[in-house]
Amino acid sequence: MLEATLDALSAWPGAVWLQQSGTAYLFVNAAHILGIGLLLGGILPLDLRLMGLFGRTPLEILGPFLTRVAASGLAIALLTGAWLFTVNPAEYWVNDSVRWKAVLLGAAFINVVFQHRVTDTIRWIPTTVTRIRAGLSLGLWLGVLVAGRWIGFL
Ligand code: HEM
Repeated sequence: MLEATLDALSAWPGAVWLQQSGTAYLFVNAAHILGIGLLLGGILPLDLRLMGLFGRTPLEILGPFLTRVAASGLAIALLTGAWLFTVNPAEYWVNDSVRWKAVLLGAAFINVVFQHRVTDTIRWIPTTVTRIRAGLSLGLWLGVLVAGRWIGFL
């Protein structure tokens, strides 16, 4: 059942295209990195600012903008990441770094959901819980980044 699903994933036209064209793979991989850049480029300064470690620019200005940048990056990274996964699903499925990446990604996502629940996004006044969650977010997203880079080494 699992084997059949992984085989089916690697046979969809988008996967076959990347399996046959190094150039197409390069562009989707570059788009994945663009997504990662936007995601971390948005979330890291926002987390540091929420923790009180990154200047004094008003959060009600920084917050909505950086959140939008990070969300766009996450959407691009998720889409292109899922696409890259289908190029060789059977191998990625048993790769420890892929599993770490999936767990960290899930944890980072749950943290985002809770952060949005507790943060006062109308007045952008960070509470102690917001600051702690911002630190957690920083660690989790960096963990996803390292786990992603690690895939190529296993
Ligand atoms: C559904 C979500 C995602 C999936 C399924 C996914 C999957 C993949 C795959 C299959 C690769 C290629 C690995 C290889 O063979 O070298 C990759 C590379 C990578 N991913 Fe993701 N990814 C996702 C999201 C993310 C996110 C959110 C980040 C960062 C925060 C990230 C960071 C990386 C990094 C750093 C690389 C290495 C790029 C390179 O060196 O060329 N990924 N990802």
